[in-house]
Amino acid sequence: MKPWLRLLPLVLLSFGAAADPGTDRAEFNYFVHCRGCHGPDGSGSGDSVPSLKGEMARFLHVTGGREFLVQVPGSANAAVGDQELAQLLNWMLEKFSPEALPDEFQPYSAKEVGRLRQEPLMEVNQLRAKLVARMPE
Ligand code: HEC
Repeated sequence: MKPWLRLLPLVLLSFGAAADPGTDRAEFNYFVHCRGCHGPDGSGSGDSVPSLKGEMARFLHVTGGREFLVQVPGSANAAVGDQELAQLLNWMLEKFSPEALPDEFQPYSAKEVGRLRQEPLMEVNQLRAKLVARMPE
Protein backbone atom coordinates (compact mmCIF):
# COMPACT_ATOMS: atom_id res chain seq x y z
CA MET A 1 0.00 0.00 0.00
CA LYS A 2 1.27 3.49 -0.79
CA PRO A 3 2.09 5.31 2.43
CA TRP A 4 -0.34 8.17 1.74
CA LEU A 5 -3.19 5.72 1.25
CA ARG A 6 -2.76 4.61 4.81
CA LEU A 7 -3.64 8.15 5.89
CA LEU A 8 -6.81 8.25 3.83
CA PRO A 9 -9.21 6.95 6.52
CA LEU A 10 -7.87 9.55 8.88
CA VAL A 11 -8.44 12.32 6.36
CA LEU A 12 -11.98 11.13 5.68
CA LEU A 13 -12.66 10.93 9.38
CA SER A 14 -11.64 14.51 9.94
CA PHE A 15 -13.90 15.71 7.11
CA GLY A 16 -16.78 13.83 8.71
CA ALA A 17 -16.16 15.52 12.03
CA ALA A 18 -16.07 18.97 10.43
CA ALA A 19 -19.59 18.70 8.99
CA ASP A 20 -22.25 19.43 11.60
CA PRO A 21 -25.11 16.95 11.18
CA GLY A 22 -27.60 19.38 12.75
CA THR A 23 -26.76 22.02 10.16
CA ASP A 24 -27.01 19.57 7.29
CA ARG A 25 -30.33 18.34 8.55
CA ALA A 26 -31.63 21.90 8.92
CA GLU A 27 -30.67 22.78 5.37
CA PHE A 28 -32.31 19.59 4.13
CA ASN A 29 -35.51 20.30 6.07
CA TYR A 30 -35.64 23.84 4.75
CA PHE A 31 -35.40 22.59 1.21
CA VAL A 32 -38.04 19.92 1.73
CA HIS A 33 -40.57 21.78 3.89
CA CYS A 34 -40.13 25.53 3.52
CA ARG A 35 -38.42 26.46 0.26
CA GLY A 36 -41.60 26.04 -1.80
CA CYS A 37 -43.05 29.19 -0.26
CA HIS A 38 -40.06 30.98 1.23
CA GLY A 39 -37.79 30.53 -1.80
CA PRO A 40 -34.28 29.05 -1.99
CA ASP A 41 -32.77 32.28 -0.65
CA GLY A 42 -35.56 33.20 1.78
CA SER A 43 -36.85 36.03 -0.36
CA GLY A 44 -40.46 34.77 -0.22
CA SER A 45 -42.90 34.75 -3.09
CA GLY A 46 -44.87 37.66 -4.46
CA ASP A 47 -47.12 39.56 -2.07
CA SER A 48 -48.24 36.47 -0.19
CA VAL A 49 -45.04 35.20 1.50
CA PRO A 50 -42.91 37.84 3.23
CA SER A 51 -39.15 37.88 2.75
CA LEU A 52 -36.96 36.49 5.53
CA LYS A 53 -33.82 38.06 4.08
CA GLY A 54 -32.44 40.59 6.51
CA GLU A 55 -35.83 40.46 8.24
CA MET A 56 -36.30 37.25 10.17
CA ALA A 57 -34.07 38.13 13.14
CA ARG A 58 -35.74 41.53 13.45
CA PHE A 59 -38.63 39.74 15.16
CA LEU A 60 -36.22 38.90 18.00
CA HIS A 61 -36.00 42.61 18.84
CA VAL A 62 -39.66 42.92 19.86
CA THR A 63 -41.60 41.34 22.74
CA GLY A 64 -43.47 38.29 21.47
CA GLY A 65 -41.37 38.04 18.31
CA ARG A 66 -39.26 35.11 19.47
CA GLU A 67 -42.45 33.17 20.19
CA PHE A 68 -44.03 34.26 16.90
CA LEU A 69 -41.25 32.70 14.79
CA VAL A 70 -42.08 29.31 16.34
CA GLN A 71 -45.86 29.68 16.50
CA VAL A 72 -46.41 30.91 12.95
CA PRO A 73 -48.22 28.05 11.15
CA GLY A 74 -45.34 27.28 8.75
CA SER A 75 -43.07 26.55 11.73
CA ALA A 76 -45.47 25.11 14.31
CA ASN A 77 -47.12 22.68 11.89
CA ALA A 78 -43.96 21.59 10.08
CA ALA A 79 -43.61 17.81 9.83
CA VAL A 80 -40.40 17.77 11.87
CA GLY A 81 -39.68 17.01 15.53
CA ASP A 82 -38.94 19.66 18.15
CA GLN A 83 -35.16 19.22 17.96
CA GLU A 84 -35.22 19.53 14.19
CA LEU A 85 -37.50 22.57 14.26
CA ALA A 86 -35.21 24.29 16.77
CA GLN A 87 -32.18 23.57 14.55
CA LEU A 88 -34.09 24.66 11.46
CA LEU A 89 -35.06 28.03 12.95
CA ASN A 90 -31.54 28.63 14.31
CA TRP A 91 -30.12 27.80 10.88
CA MET A 92 -32.61 30.08 9.09
CA LEU A 93 -31.85 33.01 11.40
CA GLU A 94 -28.10 32.66 10.75
CA LYS A 95 -28.57 32.05 7.06
CA PHE A 96 -31.08 34.75 6.14
CA SER A 97 -30.56 37.54 8.65
CA PRO A 98 -27.21 37.25 10.46
CA GLU A 99 -26.81 41.03 10.48
CA ALA A 100 -30.04 41.48 12.44
CA LEU A 101 -29.34 38.85 15.12
CA PRO A 102 -29.25 40.49 18.57
CA ASP A 103 -25.87 40.17 20.33
CA GLU A 104 -27.48 38.34 23.22
CA PHE A 105 -29.28 35.84 20.96
CA GLN A 106 -29.73 32.42 22.58
CA PRO A 107 -30.46 29.67 20.04
CA TYR A 108 -33.82 27.93 20.28
CA SER A 109 -33.81 24.65 22.18
CA ALA A 110 -35.99 21.62 21.47
CA LYS A 111 -37.72 22.17 24.80
CA GLU A 112 -38.63 25.78 24.12
CA VAL A 113 -39.87 25.04 20.63
CA GLY A 114 -41.85 22.02 21.84
CA ARG A 115 -43.67 24.14 24.40
CA LEU A 116 -44.39 27.06 22.08
CA ARG A 117 -45.70 25.03 19.17
CA GLN A 118 -48.42 23.59 21.45
CA GLU A 119 -50.02 27.04 21.59
CA PRO A 120 -51.41 27.77 18.15
CA LEU A 121 -51.62 31.36 16.94
CA MET A 122 -54.97 32.89 16.19
CA GLU A 123 -55.08 35.98 13.97
CA VAL A 124 -51.60 35.46 12.55
CA ASN A 125 -51.75 38.46 10.23
CA GLN A 126 -52.89 40.89 12.90
CA LEU A 127 -50.24 39.76 15.36
CA ARG A 128 -47.57 39.89 12.65
CA ALA A 129 -48.55 43.44 11.70
CA LYS A 130 -48.39 44.51 15.34
CA LEU A 131 -44.90 43.04 15.79
CA VAL A 132 -43.61 44.56 12.56
CA ALA A 133 -44.94 47.98 13.59
CA ARG A 134 -42.98 47.77 16.86
CA MET A 135 -39.66 46.83 15.24
CA PRO A 136 -36.83 49.33 15.61
CA GLU A 137 -35.64 50.88 12.34
C1 HEC B 1 -47.61 27.30 2.10
C2 HEC B 1 -46.54 28.29 2.15
C3 HEC B 1 -45.56 28.23 3.30
C4 HEC B 1 -44.76 27.18 3.68
C5 HEC B 1 -44.65 25.80 3.06
C6 HEC B 1 -43.97 27.68 4.80
N1 HEC B 1 -44.30 28.97 5.09
FE1 HEC B 1 -43.49 30.10 6.54
N2 HEC B 1 -44.72 31.65 6.07
C7 HEC B 1 -45.66 31.62 5.06
C8 HEC B 1 -46.46 32.85 5.11
C9 HEC B 1 -47.61 33.22 4.18
C10 HEC B 1 -45.94 33.60 6.19
C11 HEC B 1 -46.45 34.94 6.73
C12 HEC B 1 -47.23 34.74 8.01
C13 HEC B 1 -48.45 33.91 7.79
O1 HEC B 1 -49.39 34.37 7.13
O2 HEC B 1 -48.43 32.73 8.23
C14 HEC B 1 -44.84 32.81 6.75
C15 HEC B 1 -44.08 33.25 7.80
C16 HEC B 1 -43.09 32.50 8.39
C17 HEC B 1 -42.25 32.95 9.47
C18 HEC B 1 -42.31 34.29 10.17
C19 HEC B 1 -41.61 35.36 9.34
C20 HEC B 1 -42.52 36.45 8.88
O3 HEC B 1 -41.99 37.42 8.29
O4 HEC B 1 -43.74 36.38 9.09
C21 HEC B 1 -41.41 31.93 9.79
C22 HEC B 1 -40.33 31.91 10.88
C23 HEC B 1 -41.72 30.85 8.90
N3 HEC B 1 -42.73 31.22 8.05
C24 HEC B 1 -41.10 29.64 8.95
C25 HEC B 1 -41.40 28.59 8.10
C26 HEC B 1 -40.73 27.32 8.18
C27 HEC B 1 -39.67 26.94 9.18
C28 HEC B 1 -41.25 26.55 7.18
C29 HEC B 1 -40.89 25.13 6.82
C30 HEC B 1 -40.82 24.16 7.89
C31 HEC B 1 -42.26 27.35 6.52
N4 HEC B 1 -42.33 28.58 7.09
C32 HEC B 1 -43.04 26.90 5.47
C33 HEC B 1 -45.85 30.61 4.14
C34 HEC B 1 -45.26 29.36 4.20
